[in-house]
Amino acid sequence: MIGYHACPPPRLLNGSNRSVEETGESMAQTPQVQEEKLFIHNLVKRDPLAGLAEDVRRGLTTQPKRFLPKYFYDELGSQLFEAICLLPEYYLTRAENEILQRYADEIVSTVAGPTTLIEMGSGSASKTRLLIEALLRKQAELLFMPVDISATALENSSRILLQSYPRLNIEAYAADYFAALAELANEQRTHTLALFLGSNISNFDVDEALKFLRALRLVLNEGDALLLGADLKKDKAVLEAAYNDALGVTAAFNLNVLARINRELGGNFDLRAFAHRAVYNEEAGRVEIYIESCCEQTVSIRKLDLQVQFGEGEQIHTENSYKYDLEDIGKLAAQTGFTRAQTWQDQKQQFSSNLLLAV
Ligand code: AVJ
Repeated sequence: MIGYHACPPPRLLNGSNRSVEETGESMAQTPQVQEEKLFIHNLVKRDPLAGLAEDVRRGLTTQPKRFLPKYFYDELGSQLFEAICLLPEYYLTRAENEILQRYADEIVSTVAGPTTLIEMGSGSASKTRLLIEALLRKQAELLFMPVDISATALENSSRILLQSYPRLNIEAYAADYFAALAELANEQRTHTLALFLGSNISNFDVDEALKFLRALRLVLNEGDALLLGADLKKDKAVLEAAYNDALGVTAAFNLNVLARINRELGGNFDLRAFAHRAVYNEEAGRVEIYIESCCEQTVSIRKLDLQVQFGEGEQIHTENSYKYDLEDIGKLAAQTGFTRAQTWQDQKQQFSSNLLLAV
């Protein structure tokens, strides 16, 4: 059975097979997981539309227009991101996998055991398997605490993990990062290894990265560690190809946010009248992702009672993907209560896995 509850936690609600988020994600039919092995704290359910509605209104009534990247990840968006990870141009996932394949045992040996594993933005948790397996080689049981904005992704990945690893228990948070970190900071744990993989940090600008790492540091004790996956600064052409693949999957991922607004907020965006753009801004050290209006047009969003004008070529900024060098990461660590103790890289040196020790 799977336990669900809204926040604040009442007791375990068993077998609740109702809609998880009411945000267009349908919950998978999956009551077959071993009893008492999985508990999902659903903090998203509290107010499923409030965040999206308010943020879309704000984003479309400011200049320049912008959205928040967390709204990419409805059920289809989460799946499109999984597809991105398989694209030939999107080297990040393969590079990080290569690192974890090779160094997982070394990585987990940096934290005293027995270890609890926390993962921020776990998604499908496929790379996590390598670290779970490494930890289960060292200890009899493992508590895995994944945090993800998509309850559906969490539930699906948790079910698959529990079927693979009988010695695993999962306590998951369907939540915004900061909401989950606030809850996690209130709990006592054994030694903890936290994961923030896949260059998930890349959506944050410097201030947000500092805020996030400080909030995460409060969840850890001295001697605990964070494994931080960060994509490295590199050739502009390589970076732009990674965010503008020939097959158009990244374009679909980006434009899907308009489909989500149509569905959930009663919008009438014509997806064919908008285009995907990705450019590497070298000075800022980030790939900037936009949705660009192909013509002059007006879009209405019924549930917001809003009409939005677009000029030809006008853009909505949907995402930044920051790129790092090792010095940047060392500085971030030093300002947030960590030290960059060790870094592993793939053979082509495209990606970095950084062990930040809590000091
Ligand atoms: C999930 C933030 C790591 O920035 O590479 C991929 C998101 N956007 N392609 C990234 C993304 C378009 C991805 N992160």
